[in-house]
Amino acid sequence: MKIGCPKEIKPQECRVGLTPNAVREAVAHGHDVIVETGAGDGAGYADADYVAAGARVAGTAAEVFDAAELVVKVKEPQAQERARLRAGQVLFTYLHLAPDPDQTRDLLVSGVTAIAYETVTDARGGLPLLAPMSEVAGRLAPQVGAWALQKANGGRGVLLGGVPGVAPGRVLVIGGGVVGTHAARVAAGMGADVTVIDRSVPRLRYLDDVFGGTFRNAYADAATTMDLARQADLIIGAVLIPGAAAPMLISRAQLADLKPGAVLVDVAIDQGGCFETSHATTHQHPVYEVEGIVHYCVANMPGAVPRTATHALGNATLPFVLALADKGWRRACAEDPHLLAGLNTHAGHLTYGAVGVALGLPVLAAEEALAI
Ligand SMILES: NC(=O)c1ccc[n+]([C@@H]2O[C@H](COP(=O)([O-])OP(=O)(O)OC[C@H]3O[C@@H](n4cnc5c(N)ncnc54)[C@H](O)[C@@H]3O)[C@@H](O)[C@H]2O)c1
Repeated sequence: MKIGCPKEIKPQECRVGLTPNAVREAVAHGHDVIVETGAGDGAGYADADYVAAGARVAGTAAEVFDAAELVVKVKEPQAQERARLRAGQVLFTYLHLAPDPDQTRDLLVSGVTAIAYETVTDARGGLPLLAPMSEVAGRLAPQVGAWALQKANGGRGVLLGGVPGVAPGRVLVIGGGVVGTHAARVAAGMGADVTVIDRSVPRLRYLDDVFGGTFRNAYADAATTMDLARQADLIIGAVLIPGAAAPMLISRAQLADLKPGAVLVDVAIDQGGCFETSHATTHQHPVYEVEGIVHYCVANMPGAVPRTATHALGNATLPFVLALADKGWRRACAEDPHLLAGLNTHAGHLTYGAVGVALGLPVLAAEEALAI
C-alpha cells in the first residue's frame, strides 16, 4: 500500500504522523511510504532520517495526498488538506468531528474513509490513541507548575521538593485518571507532598493499591476539594466527564481562599476547564494571573514536547497503521472491533453515532459501512 505522511499545517503543531522507525516497519511489511519534505522537522526528524528508513521524500503536500492510499497524520485535516481527500482513500488521524460541522461536511463530500484516533477503543474500555497524550500532559503538568511557582514567573516562590529542613510544596491533583495519575507520580518524584482526589471510589481503590506509599488520595466532595485547595501550592485540574464539559470545581470567589501566588494548572482546559477563571492559553503566553493566583491553561500541552509526543503517539498508532496497510481498511476493521470503532466517515456516510447526535446528521452503522 502507498502510505502518505504530510507535514502538519495546523498552527503550532510540530508533531508528525509517522516516525522514521514507523516508516522502517511499514517498508519492511512491503509498503511504499511517501513523506512530505520537512514533515519531521518540528519533532527533530530530518528528511534524511526518513530516506534512511526507506521512505520517498516528496516536495509538496499535493504529491503526498495524490499518491497516498492511506494518509497518516496527527491533527484533523485543515480546509486545504480536506480539498485533497478523495473517495477510496483512508485517512487515519485525530478528527474530533462532534464540534466541527465544517470538517464533517467536507469529509462526507470527499467520500474519504476517515478513521479517528480518538474513537479507537481497547479491550478494557479505554481510548488507546488518546491515552499517550494524556500521559504526556500529565507528566508535564508538575513540570510547568513548578516553573510557574517560581517568583519570576508570578508564583509564590516555593520549590516543590523543599530542601532539608524546609517542608516540600503541596500539590493537589483533582481527577485521578490518566492525566492525574501521571501528574501525581511526577510531582511525588520531585519530592512534593501530593494528594489526588477523585469522585470514583473504584479509581481511588486502584490508586491506593498501586500508589498508596507514593501519594495520598481522598474522595472529591466539594468540602474536601476546598480544604485541600486552601493548603496547596500547586493545583492540577485533571477531571473528565466523558462527552461533557469539565465540571467547574473552583469559582472566582474561592480564589480568595487559596494561598497568594498559588498555581492552577488546568489540564482539562480542552474540555472548557475546571476552574471558573480558566481560559485557554498558548505555549507563547502560557500563564496569566487572576486575584493573585497564577493560571496555566495551555490547551495542547503535548505540543511543548513534540519529540516525546510524536514518539508516544507513534508507538500507539503503529499496530493500527500496519493492520490498515497490510489488510486494507475493510478487513482490518472487520477483524478488529476496536479499530472499527474509529470509523467516522466512509463514502459519504457518517458512521459514528455520537457525532451524528452532536451535529444532527443521519448515521450509518459502521458494520454496514464495511459492505459499501
Ligand atoms: N491540555 C491538554 O493538552 C490535554 C492533554 C491531554 C488530556 N487533556 C484533558 O485532561 C482531562 C483528563 O483526561 P484523562 O485522560 O486523565 O481522563 P480520565 O477519564 O482518565 O480521568 C478523569 C478522571 O476525572 C475524574 N472526575 C470526574 N469528575 C470529577 C470531579 N468532579 N472531581 C474529581 N474527579 C473527577 C474521573 O472519575 C476520572 O478518574 C481531559 O479533559 C482531557 O481532555 C488535556
